[in-house]
Amino acid sequence: MSPQRHPPAPSPRGEHAGEFPTLPSGYLVAAIVLLLAAPVSLLAWAAGAGAIRAGARRWVLALAGAIPMVAALVLLGPSLARTAAVAVGGVVGGSGTGRPSVAFLGAAAAALGRWAVVTAPVGVPAGLVAAAVPPREPAVPRPEWQEQRARQREELRARKRVAKRADREGGDLRSPALGISLGGSVDAWRIGDLVVPPPRQLGLAWLLLGAPGVGKSTASERLGYLCGGERRHLVVIDAKGGHDGLAEGITAAFLAGWPDARVRLFPNERLDIWRGGPQAVVNRLVEVWDWSAESAYWREVAMTALRLALGQPGPPCRSGAELCARLDPGRLVRAWEHEPGTLSLVQKLAKGDDLPGVHIRVSNLIAALGGALDGDASWEDADCWVVTVPAMVASRDADAALRVLLADYAHFTMARKSGRPSHLLVDEFSAIGGGRRSAIDLLERGRGARSGVTLSGQSAVALGTEEERGRLLAAAAAVLLFRSPQPAEIAALAGSERVAEGAWQADGDDLTGRATITTRARARIDQDLARQLPTGEAELIVAGHRERLRIIRTAIPPATATHARALVGGEDRPPIGGTLRPPTPADADATRGLPAPPAAPQGQAATPSPPATLDPPPAPRVRQHQPPPAGGGSPGSDREHREE
Ligand SMILES: Nc1ncnc2c1ncn2[C@@H]1O[C@H](COP(=O)(O)OP(=O)(O)OP(=O)(O)O)[C@@H](O)[C@H]1O
Ligand SMILES: [Mg+2]
Repeated sequence: MSPQRHPPAPSPRGEHAGEFPTLPSGYLVAAIVLLLAAPVSLLAWAAGAGAIRAGARRWVLALAGAIPMVAALVLLGPSLARTAAVAVGGVVGGSGTGRPSVAFLGAAAAALGRWAVVTAPVGVPAGLVAAAVPPREPAVPRPEWQEQRARQREELRARKRVAKRADREGGDLRSPALGISLGGSVDAWRIGDLVVPPPRQLGLAWLLLGAPGVGKSTASERLGYLCGGERRHLVVIDAKGGHDGLAEGITAAFLAGWPDARVRLFPNERLDIWRGGPQAVVNRLVEVWDWSAESAYWREVAMTALRLALGQPGPPCRSGAELCARLDPGRLVRAWEHEPGTLSLVQKLAKGDDLPGVHIRVSNLIAALGGALDGDASWEDADCWVVTVPAMVASRDADAALRVLLADYAHFTMARKSGRPSHLLVDEFSAIGGGRRSAIDLLERGRGARSGVTLSGQSAVALGTEEERGRLLAAAAAVLLFRSPQPAEIAALAGSERVAEGAWQADGDDLTGRATITTRARARIDQDLARQLPTGEAELIVAGHRERLRIIRTAIPPATATHARALVGGEDRPPIGGTLRPPTPADADATRGLPAPPAAPQGQAATPSPPATLDPPPAPRVRQHQPPPAGGGSPGSDREHREE
């Protein structure tokens, strides 16, 4: 009968008769020799094996055993040999007759006990050395059905052990570990059984992907804790609106790593986005709108108008209300009246619909932001900012705010933070709509500025269009893949490895014991296993290698938890999702001075709600285009524009 690649699971008879022959175990031989030579060594062996399971390195154990063993042999060897000779004589003599008898057994047991004590100085280190010997790889792989059962049993045991270990490690607030290893090949990250991001890894790009409820936020909180531990500035964007407690969790985790840190929260506190020169502010404001090739002219108009308003002679602009006032055509002309060169440009802009058009849209934007970005503090004024945006409730306002905030954070990382390491963590990347462009740019370019970025999402598809996904996956230095129904694209990042595969010969229901071995490439991450990963476990993919790990959940000390709760707003406070404005009188004051948007020019309706596009007024100069859809943030919305 010819060899069969996947034999059916054998019948009970076949299972027994065809059981794949087990390999003679070198361990058994070693155990018998050690038992006779130095009985205590078996206990040391068991202890050494336990230490290896708990993460001890084999070479450390081997050295720890070999050096005292050699010393004991040199010092005690001759006396041990004499003792052995006397003991054998004693046993034989003790039996009385010189022939085996019951009395002989008693004497032998007593002698063995004495022998165990006498040889302990050699036996203990010898046991450790024996434990350090790596298990022999079977020359022939075991059949798949045997392998699977053995693997499942081993995985179950390992999971329980690792979950307990992770809980213990989570309570140690000096631990630099992200998780506990469940096996893999990311050697650079492993210290014993701990998975520890190497230095500066938090200054690089991370992706966290997995289905809902699998532990992405818990992992984000652990990353927050690690940022705190290495005194790294952290900005967290919670795009889900603050309903899942991320703000509190991450605040607590960051404070657990850095107890004296200054943590601020948006929109509980307002942010100041008016820092930097006029051009920097112009750049972040124009990020609010999507620009297609057709609207390039309007982009120039908007940039010019904003530059003139923000850069006009006098003190810098410090609020949205002031910017609106400055964009009033009459006021802008007056501001530049002493600079003839620029004045003619202002007059040209003010003559047609261009300047009023920009004025309307900026007014709407400022109304949407509601003074939330006119505060006194910015990224540099805290060690950790947690930005909660009500993306689901007020998606357009949230989108506009996020675009400006991310552009401002980019300016902070590139120009304002003077080398201070920082990290941007975006929970639920797919919810940040239009801000994704800035986030992707940051992820690609942050490395030079020592700024890392973590984006979390529910699947590879959540990363955006094919092009965006490609950019993100190419730039990511570390990917954490949690349980996912569609792991293929991410799992492929870990590549494949060559494994031996056996084909067994069967005779009827029985295996004959003959096998053929071939090697084949197998994906390092088994997609079926990735679909079944338990909550809190992830596959870490780094530079084509993978490591399964249990993410450590940081145990927050009660005092830190209370502090974090107080910072976020306490339990009595209504959830902040749903508004961009902090419920404070100060906020009301800040927005009171906001001028009403000017009346729309004839034939043009003022946008009733905050704009997501700077959709130009009809003009003959450019081919008309449809404005992007509400929110403007859907990936590739520019591409959907059609010439008419
Ligand atoms: N590493 C972990 N250790 C222990 N428990 C965990 C771990 N990760 C997740 N959990 C448990 O699973 C729950 C859900 O986790 P988490 O909120 O982090 O998932 P998520 O992926 O962020 O979900 P969503 O997509 O809904 O935001 C947690 O409340 C926690 O009880
Ligand atoms: Mg979450």
